[in-house]
Amino acid sequence: MIFLGVILLLWVCSIRAAGARPPSYAAWAADSAIARGQGNGLDSNGQPTVSYEHGEFQWALRLLYERTGNKTYYDYIQKGVDNVLLPNGTVGGGYSLILSESDPVFLYLYTTTKEIKYKTAADEFRAQLDIHSRTAQGQFWHKIQYPNQGWLDGIYMGEVFYAAYTQMFQSHNQSAWVHVDVQQHNPNVCYYK
Ligand SMILES: *[C@@H]1O[C@H](CO)[C@@H](O)[C@H](O)[C@H]1NC(C)=O
Ligand SMILES: *[C@@H]1O[C@H](CO)[C@@H](O)[C@H](O)[C@H]1NC(C)=O
Ligand SMILES: *[C@@H]1O[C@H](CO)[C@@H](O)[C@H](O)[C@H]1NC(C)=O
Repeated sequence: MIFLGVILLLWVCSIRAAGARPPSYAAWAADSAIARGQGNGLDSNGQPTVSYEHGEFQWALRLLYERTGNKTYYDYIQKGVDNVLLPNGTVGGGYSLILSESDPVFLYLYTTTKEIKYKTAADEFRAQLDIHSRTAQGQFWHKIQYPNQGWLDGIYMGEVFYAAYTQMFQSHNQSAWVHVDVQQHNPNVCYYK
């Protein structure tokens, strides 16, 4: 009898645990990060911050939104980006010549909303690429404080945006395409498969 009772208890507990589970590990992880306010465009003092960690999280939420259709994730991306933008699209957060992953999110929100402030923000980051320091071979320095260093993660931080922006707004700009290509195919700067 006691044995049966234990079995029954375990069975009830397992049903309750299963019922509490989010639909996937991805949703579970995202919900957990959202509940802590991570990746929302604000630093720990509540000030706007342009940071690649936030951009990366927003990119992941985009994939989750596309997979689940759950607008909670889309809304969180938009809220996070709006936290770093002034209403006219000027980017806040005291950024200065950094390659970040926030910039592709500007393009994503411009595509989905057609709100001009997201294009203004993308334009601002695109203009920054023209003056971002680069090696003699043309690769962007990873950061201003790392002279002549090209890092692999700089490729997806800067180049994804560079290519996406060029495709959306300047698809005939050959010098931009050549420069995009230099970021990954110049054997002197970095090589990966
Ligand atoms: C969307 O996700 C949120 C957060 O996990 C959840 O609370 C909500 O129930 C989901 N909405 C739908 C329609 O599945
Ligand atoms: C946007 O607004 C801010 C604050 O009012 C201002 O400093 C900035 O020049 C404006 N940007 C543009 C592009 O008008
Ligand atoms: C084309 O791309 C180059 C290289 O990024 C840039 O310097 C130039 O301003 C772009 N041309 C136009 C018309 O935007």
